[in-house]
Amino acid sequence: MDLLSLATTVRSRVEEPVTDLLQILKVLSNPRLPVLLALSKGLIEPTYRLAFLASASNSGVLRCLAARPCDLESLADRLQIGPAEKDRLRAWLDMGVKLGDFGTGEGCYRLSSFTAKFLAQPGNDAVAAALEEVIRFHVPALLHGPNMLRVGERFSLDDQDGAVIARSTRVVESFVEAAVDRNLERSRPVRLLEVGCGSGTYVRHAARLTPRLSALAIDMQKNVADQAASNMAEWGLTDRVETRQGDLRTLDLEPQFDLVTMHNNIYYFPQDDRVETLRRARRLLAPGGKLLLTTSCQGGNTGLEALNLWFHFSDFGGPLPREGELVEQLEEAGFTDVEATQVIPGEQFRACTGTNAQLALD
Ligand SMILES: C[S@@+](CC[C@H](N)C(=O)[O-])C[C@H]1O[C@@H](n2cnc3c(N)ncnc32)[C@H](O)[C@@H]1O
Repeated sequence: MDLLSLATTVRSRVEEPVTDLLQILKVLSNPRLPVLLALSKGLIEPTYRLAFLASASNSGVLRCLAARPCDLESLADRLQIGPAEKDRLRAWLDMGVKLGDFGTGEGCYRLSSFTAKFLAQPGNDAVAAALEEVIRFHVPALLHGPNMLRVGERFSLDDQDGAVIARSTRVVESFVEAAVDRNLERSRPVRLLEVGCGSGTYVRHAARLTPRLSALAIDMQKNVADQAASNMAEWGLTDRVETRQGDLRTLDLEPQFDLVTMHNNIYYFPQDDRVETLRRARRLLAPGGKLLLTTSCQGGNTGLEALNLWFHFSDFGGPLPREGELVEQLEEAGFTDVEATQVIPGEQFRACTGTNAQLALD
């Protein structure tokens, strides 16, 4: 080594730590970078994880990996993903590893995080569907709100996915069931009409509470009604429960029901139509029959407020009701003995009841 290059090497060795220090000082003096790094951990990564886990759940990846760790080939086979797409599948799976939800070992992918393992369990399907609802429906309302207003755009029922919503609403299942428990007559035969039955889970619950129950379960969305009908068959209830696609607003039936239930769907009706909607429900009740309506109300947790926002922006429904408003609407619709009770401690979730004391043909 000549003397000049020796001197250059020594100088660069001495200068290196100084250069590093300068770089660090430069980074620290730029206020944007530390904030972006902090946001990456606190805001960006959780968003990526939400999207990733929702997709891992709805694509069936979570279920496959919960059964056993899988290599790329067997996973692609089980998901019916062709050989030409394997590299992209690997890139997607590796993102899951980066996010900490998946792990690798012995050439296989496996579930790693508590959340991924939790969501993979069939009993936690409602939570998995709720994550999907958040990322697919709540996030667009937040993301596009002002721009939608500028061009007068609204969400339609087709922007929703009735099958996902029917699953996600089951997060409040035990509370709605408790409301059904309190309001279902067991001492005599009961004819139930459930409006907007979703999966049909509350009709099943009522049928389990009394063998003297027969029911008509309707949902206006065909795919939802079809799924409910197939659930009724699986639950062995078709002899007691008729399930059909139907809309409360056009349902033409005799006033024959002892109980009409509407769970989690009053906000599918525009605010101005709610009194008429409730009146229609009352007219399907036999004299002395009862309405049980459960719903989230305004002023609840952030998730409920995002739901409220989505329905504010819908072209078919309206905002979540306020508790007092709902009581007034029930009374205006002709119900007597109207009551609203808190169903979930500390949450804006109410069970409202009213009786059809009037003659049915008013
Ligand atoms: C959020 S989901 C709730 C499903 C179920 N009741 C539950 O709590 O799990 C609301 C359901 O009400 C149905 N629905 C809304 N308006 C309706 C109407 N006018 N007639 C019948 N079904 C209706 C929707 O299609 C949707 O499936």
